Amino acid sequence: MTRTQTIQNDRLLKACRREPVDRTPVWIMRQAGRYLPSYRALRERVSFMQLCKTPELALQATLTPLEVMDVDAAILFSDILIPVEAMGMKVVFTESKGPQLPEPVRTQADIARLRVPDPEQSMPFVPDAIRLINQTLKGRIPLLGFSGAPYTLATYMIEGETSKNFYGIKRRLFEAPKLLHGLLELLADTVTAYLNAQITAGAHAVQLFDTWAGALSPAEYAEFAFPYARRVIAGLRREGTPVILYVNGGGDYLELMAETGADVLSLDWRIDIGEARRRIGHRVALQGNLDPCALYAPPETIRAQVARILQRYGRGEGHVFNLGHGILPDIPVAHAVAMVDAVHEESAQYHGAT
Ligand code: CP3
Repeated sequence: MTRTQTIQNDRLLKACRREPVDRTPVWIMRQAGRYLPSYRALRERVSFMQLCKTPELALQATLTPLEVMDVDAAILFSDILIPVEAMGMKVVFTESKGPQLPEPVRTQADIARLRVPDPEQSMPFVPDAIRLINQTLKGRIPLLGFSGAPYTLATYMIEGETSKNFYGIKRRLFEAPKLLHGLLELLADTVTAYLNAQITAGAHAVQLFDTWAGALSPAEYAEFAFPYARRVIAGLRREGTPVILYVNGGGDYLELMAETGADVLSLDWRIDIGEARRRIGHRVALQGNLDPCALYAPPETIRAQVARILQRYGRGEGHVFNLGHGILPDIPVAHAVAMVDAVHEESAQYHGAT
């Protein structure tokens, strides 16, 4: 059913496959977030976890950005820590400190207590939300599913919260590498099953967030992040479903990231997208890469910033416009709208017949 459903606006899927498009597609990481008054209104009534776990509410949250912006994709409203909780860990979202895991993984015994969850059994609200969102979107735009990648999920499980320096996981990585590999294997199986459930439910593309893997040295990236992302991607029953891989600070690793089998590499803002295209654009599409802070600028400046990235990427296929990381909570909605409109208006010249 959903596999053969035609998507009216399929720019995103075409760009992921490096097929020609009329305009560069655009969506925004965290596009349903606190910068939107409609999202904040929802959150006044319910907690973040309730939003994630109630398909009707996740549907509403997913739709909030689509009411104000002409983005070319919807992204499932959820969080990367949902499967971590389903593995058996306590996860709490606090207003001030973000996610907290009060009993972080420390020992082999902690790992032995974890399970590889069956997504349909222990997170049925995720595939249910995907089915509900597609019923509502009726093929207007594609729906992205997502998961954290094994290394990034392991950072939360070991650090117990968002970390600035990652000393907790890096300590184990050097001190007890076997322990960490054991955890990463469990996570690879969990993430593979989780993404397969999303694809089966109707996700048209999926993004793997290996957000914190960019904090690793090249040798450690190659040993602890790359093989597990590759294993997940190799295990997807995807029948052409594009996979996007995001690593914050991954600019040095693009060649290896492409070896994971991802169709699209999502860049942060620290690399020139033209340079990235020269390095790897013959193998993968690229997503990005406006600095999220650029959206503090007035709309005219945002347009100029967008135009510069489009110009740096240049003519032709294989570009999905996005920020280099999630949109910040205090960005004016009008500025996000200005970015999306600028991408569509300024990009036409880079597509079509010359
Ligand atoms: O992109 C989207 O709109 C889809 C939904 C989505 C959320 N989180 C919603 C969310 C996605 C794809 C994520 C991914 C996510 N979550 C990542 C990877 C991407 C990245 O940003 O690096 C990470 C590391 C997390 C973990 C997480 N969740 C953190 C660190 C925080 C706190 C920071 C913050 O912005 O509050 C969250 C909470 C969270 N996830 C919110 C949203 C909308 C805010 C929660 C609220 O409403 O209070």
